Amino acid sequence: MSGGEPTSLVVCVNPVQGPRKQCCGGLGSERLAEALEQGIADRRINACLDRVLCLNNCYRGPVIRIGAGGRFFFNAAPGDVPRILDALEAAAGRRALDDSDMVYPGG
Ligand code: FES
Repeated sequence: MSGGEPTSLVVCVNPVQGPRKQCCGGLGSERLAEALEQGIADRRINACLDRVLCLNNCYRGPVIRIGAGGRFFFNAAPGDVPRILDALEAAAGRRALDDSDMVYPGG
C-alpha cells in the first residue's frame, strides 16, 4: 500500500508518421494507454498515466516508461500490458481505499 504521490506511467502517443520516423501513435500506443489506464484503476495502483509526444526512442515504439528516469518498455504490445502493470505496481504500490472505491447498495 502506498499513500505517497502517484508514480507516473509515461506513454508516448505521438500520432505523427513522418518519412524518416516511425512514431508510437501509429503503432497502437493510444490503445495501450487506454488498457493501462483501465488496469491502473482496476488494480488501484498508485499511479497516473501521462501521454507524451516523444520519449526519444522512436524506432522502438510504442515506448512506455515508469516514472522519471525509470524503466523503459520498448515495442510494447497489448500482450505486455499485464507485465507493465506488474512492474508499475511493484514500483508504485497500491492506493489506499477511499470513498470512491465504495459501493453503496441502493444509492
Ligand atoms: S514518437 Fe514515441 S518515442 Fe518518439
